[in-house]
Amino acid sequence: MLPSLLLATTAATLATAHTVITYPGWRGNNLHTNDAWPYGMQWEYPCGGINLTTNRTYWPTTGGAIAFQPGWFQGHQTAFLYINIGVGTEGPDGGPINMSNPLITPFQLLGPSNGPYPGTVCLPQVGLPTNWTMNPGDNATLQIVEIAMHGAALFSCVDITFAEPGDPRIPEVNETNCFNSSDVGFASIYTVTTQAVGASANMDVSSASSLRAAAWLGYLPVLAGAAWLLM
Ligand SMILES: *[C@@H]1O[C@H](CO)[C@@H](O)[C@H](O)[C@H]1NC(C)=O
Ligand SMILES: *[C@@H]1O[C@H](CO)[C@@H](O)[C@H](O)[C@H]1NC(C)=O
Ligand SMILES: *[C@@H]1O[C@H](CO)[C@@H](O)[C@H](O)[C@H]1NC(C)=O
Ligand SMILES: *[C@@H]1O[C@H](CO)[C@@H](O)[C@H](O)[C@H]1NC(C)=O
Ligand SMILES: *[C@@H]1O[C@H](CO)[C@@H](O)[C@H](O)[C@H]1NC(C)=O
Ligand SMILES: *[C@@H]1O[C@H](CO)[C@@H](O)[C@H](O)[C@H]1NC(C)=O
Ligand SMILES: *[C@@H]1O[C@H](CO)[C@@H](O)[C@H](O)[C@H]1NC(C)=O
Repeated sequence: MLPSLLLATTAATLATAHTVITYPGWRGNNLHTNDAWPYGMQWEYPCGGINLTTNRTYWPTTGGAIAFQPGWFQGHQTAFLYINIGVGTEGPDGGPINMSNPLITPFQLLGPSNGPYPGTVCLPQVGLPTNWTMNPGDNATLQIVEIAMHGAALFSCVDITFAEPGDPRIPEVNETNCFNSSDVGFASIYTVTTQAVGASANMDVSSASSLRAAAWLGYLPVLAGAAWLLM
């Protein structure tokens, strides 16, 4: 089952493809790998190698839907997904100078295979960051970050203009453009603190006392591996 026409029309790029934003829009096709982008465009912070655009999509001031196809490349059997927002015009391209404002709690995506897969994910109501108020007419950029299994990040963006909820210029959200396909799953990401900040380093090494004099004691957790070499 192909969830989108987009998949069919750009299937030829499957071998080098990553994230496609299907709602509310996309800065443009950055699924390219060529002489100018030998590693692939989409690895480039902040928006996968595409500068600010002026053909913005309207999106509600209360937040709204975001849909994307994350499986346009091999190696994404699992991935971490982040969605951020940037505002302002101080960036070198006249857009936001950073995308450091998370819109969601990141989650893990579970794909059907390690090859490219045609799944679509839609989050129907992504809200603004706590205490943010945007007015109709304000501009912003939505950024989707997909962390591949090897830890590198893929970037894709859409430039938006905020509008009152219900404004007819906001593209309709429906079962055609906002759904989760059955071949993708989701997992929560959580961490377990194994050493709180300020807790002493847990060196179970007989020569630890001689190391205590070292000026870089504070960095012992990082250098624990190197400490073995000193013994
Ligand atoms: C803006 O225009 C570019 C180039 O034509 C196109 O690829 C992109 O999808 C458009 N974005 C929106 C949100 O319409
Ligand atoms: C928002 O961006 C559009 C171009 O995409 C520009 O014409 C408009 O002046 C901008 N609005 C604000 C409030 O900066
Ligand atoms: C991001 O940029 C905004 C300006 O648009 C600035 O106010 C904010 O401090 C920046 N945040 C970070 C983490 O750099
Ligand atoms: C993006 O904007 C920067 C800063 O203006 C410019 O140096 C760069 O060539 C632009 N990139 C593209 C692909 O147009
Ligand atoms: C949001 O605003 C309230 C009231 O001003 C404040 O107490 C709270 O700390 C703010 N939360 C964040 C995350 O900034
Ligand atoms: C869903 O909304 C889109 C616009 O976002 C529209 O093009 C499409 O026809 C709608 N589909 C249905 C089944 O209403
Ligand atoms: C898709 O799955 C995510 C994660 O479980 C969920 O938050 C979202 O509401 C689902 N989307 C739809 C359209 O049901």
